[in-house]
Amino acid sequence: MKDNNEVLLFGAGVHAVKLMETVSEMGLNFVGFISTEPPGTMVNGFPVLGYLDLFNRDKELQEKSFHISIGENSIRHAIYNSLDSGHNNMISLIAKSSSISNSAIIGKGTHIGKSVIIQNNTRIGICCLIDTRALIEHDVIIGDFVTVSPGAVVCGEVTIGRGAIIGANSTVIEKVHIGENSLIGAGSVVTKDVEPNVIAVGNPLRIIKKRKFEDRYLKR
Ligand SMILES: CC(C)(COP(=O)(O)OP(=O)(O)OC[C@H]1O[C@@H](n2cnc3c(N)ncnc32)[C@H](O)[C@@H]1OP(=O)(O)O)[C@@H](O)C(=O)NCCC(=O)NCCS
Repeated sequence: MKDNNEVLLFGAGVHAVKLMETVSEMGLNFVGFISTEPPGTMVNGFPVLGYLDLFNRDKELQEKSFHISIGENSIRHAIYNSLDSGHNNMISLIAKSSSISNSAIIGKGTHIGKSVIIQNNTRIGICCLIDTRALIEHDVIIGDFVTVSPGAVVCGEVTIGRGAIIGANSTVIEKVHIGENSLIGAGSVVTKDVEPNVIAVGNPLRIIKKRKFEDRYLKR
């Protein structure tokens, strides 16, 4: 029997553990992780059920809701593309303390963190991560597989290309475009368009290097 109240998380790292609280406050029933950790490993009191290939052949697991709970955009994307059964049961996880305008559109599989504010007419793509206390102002357009890190301020009518990362506590002023896959360093101030596939930091902003979508950016 189909039970979409039961939720699986893909990934069993720190980000997944953080999202377990959101699963619970949404009244959903967390079942376990699909992860690269050995099956049976306990993480925060819940089991790793198996690897991705288990999910791809287990029809019962495929009936459950799931969320890809991994911080790196490119790994979320790789998992998204590896799901043979499609994405019908992929859900967004939205923290109760967030405040989202009725006219905002949030893509499937996106996480909206605690105390995030999302203003009117904003559109956010699929499998994005809008992290704790980020502020997304009116008429912002955010592509798929984007991360907006904790405390970042994205002003009105900004557009953010697919796969980009806005670092923690940075500010992007109104109407600026951030190119695909580009990374804005923590605490930066963006006052002009940023080209695709670069890392840019500071205030004034300077480009320090090129970047590809699959380049990891979180410290390990
Ligand atoms: C930009 C970032 C990815 C580092 O990239 P990197 O390629 O490893 O860069 P490096 O550490 O080698 O630094 C290169 C130069 O950029 C500077 N720099 C790096 N990050 C910076 C930042 N956020 N603001 C200002 N300058 C920065 C360094 O001081 C260094 O300057 P120098 O060449 O004059 O000495 C990282 O510093 C950053 O800001 N990451 C975002 C973190 C974040 O928001 N995480 C959210 C997790 S929830």
